[in-house]
Amino acid sequence: MRHLIDPMDLTVEETERIVALAEEIIADRARFSQACRGKKLATLFYEPSTRTRLSFTAAMLELGGEVIGFSDANSSSVSKGETVADTVRVVRCFADIIAMRHFKEGAPLVASQYAGIPIINAGDGSHAHPTQTLTDLLTIKREKGRFDHLKIGFCGDLKFGRTVHSLIKALSRYEGVEVILISPEELRLPDYMLQEMSARSKLRFREVRTMEEVMPELDVLYMTRVQKERFLDEEEFDRVKDSFVLDPSKLTTAKSDMIVLHPLPRVNEITRAVDNDPRAAYFRQVENGKFVRMALIYTLLRWADENRPYDRTPVFSEEYLTGITCPNKRCISATEDVDPIFRRGADGVCRCAYCEAKAR
Ligand code: CP
Repeated sequence: MRHLIDPMDLTVEETERIVALAEEIIADRARFSQACRGKKLATLFYEPSTRTRLSFTAAMLELGGEVIGFSDANSSSVSKGETVADTVRVVRCFADIIAMRHFKEGAPLVASQYAGIPIINAGDGSHAHPTQTLTDLLTIKREKGRFDHLKIGFCGDLKFGRTVHSLIKALSRYEGVEVILISPEELRLPDYMLQEMSARSKLRFREVRTMEEVMPELDVLYMTRVQKERFLDEEEFDRVKDSFVLDPSKLTTAKSDMIVLHPLPRVNEITRAVDNDPRAAYFRQVENGKFVRMALIYTLLRWADENRPYDRTPVFSEEYLTGITCPNKRCISATEDVDPIFRRGADGVCRCAYCEAKAR
């Protein structure tokens, strides 16, 4: 059974096939209007969303399928203490595929171990957001025509920005990509990502403190919101919340064909005046999200039809290490009764399989 929990669950070829399929759908929507007839998507959203949930819904409807689910976990039996594992074992009786957003890191991975139908991670805590990555890749393909030999600046909250983590992973597989990390000290990319980037020879990266100093070099500027909901300390949030604001004056030194991306929602990090600049691609990016999710749903359902789903609590393979407790309070293993499992990476470091926190 294939799921999409992390962008690296798809090979480069599979990722590019899904992006290409999204472009086919854009070119001929009528051809796909009954492609998922008779199938149901369940959207299980434990955390607020506008774009991801509605684009998944629109995607399934445009494929001729149906959609069930909840957008407020308090209206479901989760409020009575039902676990992620039990919830998905129930939902699989009613749906063919699940898109799950959860505030706990690793929750969709837990779901994939129990559901027996494809699980799509629609964002888990600060960890990963692979369908935003597919959205970003489709946008980069349509706007820039390639994924390689690009200079991409990631600006703002690189610590909690799950869209940044996922897109960097996906881009690390392409030649000639240079990543420039623009953030205050408090919001730097997590250590595990920096170590992973150092270990990957294809990706070059550097850290700077202002967007102005790198603006003329960039092909893509990826802006992010400082995520208030992830801060445990409000004073720390207040210190960094206005760190970076993109306005038209800052774009004067940018290339004429640079694009500005943002996963949205924005707060104040891009002023409204930037919206009229043709380089502002973030609303085009939103629409791409629906088409790439159509391609993903179609692909995962086809793969599920080709494979026999398991129907039992999975026995974890020997590649996992057990008997370790994850130190990350935001990890699903901190609050739910899941088997703590760890993986040793290529760098020799042992990390939680759910949230990628380093074992102490
Ligand atoms: N980009 C994104 O995930 O937006 P939502 O939180 O509105 O789904």
